[in-house]
Amino acid sequence: MSSVPQHIAIIMDGNGRWAKEQGKPRSYGHLKGAENIRNIAIKASEMGVKVLTLYAFSTENWKRPAEEVSYLMNLPKIFFDKYLEELMANDIRVQMIGRKEGLPEETVSILDRAIEKTAGNQSMTLVFAVNYGGRSEIVDAVNRYVSEYGNTEHQLTEEEFGKYLYTADYPELELLIRTSLDYRISNFLLWQLSYAEMYFIDKYWPEFSPEDLEKIISDFTGRHRRFGGLE
Ligand code: FPP
Repeated sequence: MSSVPQHIAIIMDGNGRWAKEQGKPRSYGHLKGAENIRNIAIKASEMGVKVLTLYAFSTENWKRPAEEVSYLMNLPKIFFDKYLEELMANDIRVQMIGRKEGLPEETVSILDRAIEKTAGNQSMTLVFAVNYGGRSEIVDAVNRYVSEYGNTEHQLTEEEFGKYLYTADYPELELLIRTSLDYRISNFLLWQLSYAEMYFIDKYWPEFSPEDLEKIISDFTGRHRRFGGLE
């Protein structure tokens, strides 16, 4: 049996389809999706999860229409204006992974402010992956390593390499959840997913509930993880 996963990642998919089913614009789905983060983060923290990483905006999402991109870039402001105090009250720390370059200044400063304000919180770390790509993370790690060591004979280990990734300070990823039943990784946490359990749930992100999270975690704790070995 496993204990509660220390690090969970979620691909919050289906905001657009959910909104369409309600006869509403896609932006409404993103708004409700962002609001849902509050419920899921608080539940995860209460259950003893230490890090919750959410895929908020991928390096591929720039291909969406300008109007939608601009709405998504404004979501951190809407979200933190509404919930920052509650995150503080729940002792939740905010962090970001991804490339800050390329993001609007306003988006970065809103995220930075939330990160700074919550820096001392300890119950759980809520990580927003923004302008994030799994391949660019690995490339960034290699470039950082090369710029530190230059041309050297040093033989890198997997553990050492992990220290150059955006997730260096977080516990090993144990569980990935993707909503909306698309069976894809979509360039998310490619290195970190090596041994993670995966759950694909038949619900759009705005309707994914704290009870769904609880069920998945309880199923996870019943799974036997062998990491390639035997029982
Ligand atoms: C996928 O749904 C969702 C996204 C691309 C954006 C997710 C972002 C949030 C829920 C909020 C981020 C909040 C902060 C604070 C940074 P989709 O649009 O791909 O849905 P579809 O597949 O049905 O079209």
